[in-house]
Amino acid sequence: MPNILIETERCLIRPLEITDAAGIFELDSNPNVHTFLGKNPIKTIEEAENVIKNIQKQYEDLGIGRWAIIDKANGDFVGWTGFKYIIEPTNGHVNYHDLGYRLVERYWGTGIATETAKACVKYAFETMNLETVYGICDIENLGSKNVLQKCGLTPIATFDYDDTPHYWFVLQREDWQKLSIPK
Ligand SMILES: CC(C)(COP(=O)(O)OP(=O)(O)OC[C@H]1O[C@@H](n2cnc3c(N)ncnc32)[C@H](O)[C@@H]1OP(=O)(O)O)[C@@H](O)C(=O)NCCC(=O)NCCS
Repeated sequence: MPNILIETERCLIRPLEITDAAGIFELDSNPNVHTFLGKNPIKTIEEAENVIKNIQKQYEDLGIGRWAIIDKANGDFVGWTGFKYIIEPTNGHVNYHDLGYRLVERYWGTGIATETAKACVKYAFETMNLETVYGICDIENLGSKNVLQKCGLTPIATFDYDDTPHYWFVLQREDWQKLSIPK
């Protein structure tokens, strides 16, 4: 498989490819996945292809974008994880790296979201040489809040995002280095 960026115990992490469209369709057409994401799931495979093209444009323009998670056991598309470079002001911040993830429902409750997000944080500090990573989630999205906290990020504020209260999470490299989470 080309372009593997990160390998974890159960998964490979690589840039999204247009052939991931069926996987993105499974992910983003599921209303349960979109409970805390504006409740607007996609309806067509063309929309899934456009999601991928948009992220591939971020790779070109910004040098970074969300990455595909692949299950090593069967090659299945698990979802996406990693960093989006935020250029629209969010909670008064701009030009920062946001950690995010979205997994197809059959992979929820397996620990893979945390396993892969932790690996991305390590990659951010050790390979990308970032000083700070940020994250946001709906304050009612306890699964996502849990993942960000297990990665070492701290909710330091709340703010309104799309008219909904969200946590604002931060992790500095020097604080990450002091953490006892497995690296
Ligand atoms: C947010 C999301 C990724 C969280 O997924 P998740 O399944 O809760 O996260 P994990 O894969 O890390 O699983 C953690 C849970 O799996 C269970 N689990 C089962 N096997 C496990 C293992 N081997 N290791 C760790 N946890 C395991 C545990 O109960 C654990 O929960 P706990 O930490 O409270 O004990 C998922 O709900 C999702 O994709 N939602 C839709 C999109 C979304 O909301 N994205 C975030 C936007 S801010």
